[in-house]
Amino acid sequence: MPMIVAESSALHLSTEDARAVDEVANRLAVSAGSEVDAPEWVAAARAAWDDLPATLRRPVREFRRNSGLSGSMLIRGLPVDPAELPATPSLLGSVQRFATGPAAILLMLATGLGDPLAYRSEKSGALVQDVVPVPGKEDFQGNAGSVTLAFHVENAFHPYRPDYVALLCLRSDHDRAADLRVACVRKLLRLLSSASRQALRRTEFSTAPPPSFGEFGSETSVHPVISCDGEDPDLVVDLEATNPLTREARDALRELRDLFDRTAQAIRLAPGDLAVVDNRVAVHGRTSFRPIASPPARRWVRSRRLGRAVPIMARLGQSQTSDHAGRGLRRVAVRQ
Ligand SMILES: [Fe+2]
Repeated sequence: MPMIVAESSALHLSTEDARAVDEVANRLAVSAGSEVDAPEWVAAARAAWDDLPATLRRPVREFRRNSGLSGSMLIRGLPVDPAELPATPSLLGSVQRFATGPAAILLMLATGLGDPLAYRSEKSGALVQDVVPVPGKEDFQGNAGSVTLAFHVENAFHPYRPDYVALLCLRSDHDRAADLRVACVRKLLRLLSSASRQALRRTEFSTAPPPSFGEFGSETSVHPVISCDGEDPDLVVDLEATNPLTREARDALRELRDLFDRTAQAIRLAPGDLAVVDNRVAVHGRTSFRPIASPPARRWVRSRRLGRAVPIMARLGQSQTSDHAGRGLRRVAVRQ
C-alpha cells in the first residue's frame, strides 16, 4: 500500500536555480529545432531534464513516487517574464507548436514525471495547449471560459487519461482573482458517509467527453467513482460530465461535491508558477474571474495533454515507465 505523506508546501526556486533553469530551457529551445511536437524535441527535452538543478528534480521525483495528502505540488519562481511574452492568444483551441522557453520548461518537467502525451482527436494532437479566456465563451465549461470551472479529473471519460496535469502560469488574470482549486480523495475519504463510500465504489456512473473532443469522444461505459486500493483509492469523476445512474449514486455524488468544496486547496497562480496535479487521486477546477476586453494582458496558462487511440507516446517510440508505487504507466498532460 502506498504510504501517504504530509501535504507538501510550495517549492520556491532560488534566483540562482531559476537562472540555471532559464539557461537550460533556452538552450533546448534554440538547439532542438522549432517544432515542439517533433519526436526529436521531446527526446531533447528528456535529455535536458538531467541538466536542471537537483533542487528541482529531487522533489519532482519524490512527488512522482508519492503525491501526498494534497495530490498536488507547486513550484514557484520558474523563469517566466510576462513582459517578454507576446499578447495572450484569444482564439478558441489555441496551441503552442513552436519552441519557446516556457514550452521547454513544461516539456522537461513532463519527461521528469513520465511521458508527455496528446490526443490525436483533440486539437490535432498538439502537445502544448493554451488555457486562455476567449471572447464570447465566458460561460463555457472548459479552457476558454471564465466562469467557475467545475471540479474534474482530466479526461475522466477516457480509458487512457493522464496521470498528471501540469499547469504553468504565464500571465495572471487582470484582477489576480482566479484560483486553481485542487481536492484530493485522500483527504476526504474518511469524511464521506459509509453509504456514499459504498455507492461511489459501485459501477453506477457514466462520464461524457469534454466539448474539446468534438465528434470524436464517446461516453464511458459505466464505472465507479472510487476504485482500487481501499485505503488509497483512485478517483474518476467530472462534476459537469459524470452522470449518476441510480438514486444512491446521485446522493453520493452530491455529498462528494460538497466535500470537494470543503476540503479543496486554493492556489492563486502567478507568472512562473507551475502546479502539478496527480490526476489519479485529485480533481481540479478554477474559480471564476473577469476577462478583460483587450487581449494582450489576458490570463494565460499553458498545458500539455495525452494520447488517445494512437498515443503520441507510441508515435514517438518512447518506452513505458513504471513508478515505485506500482501505479504503472505514467502519463503527463501539460498546460501553460
Ligand atoms: Fe482540466
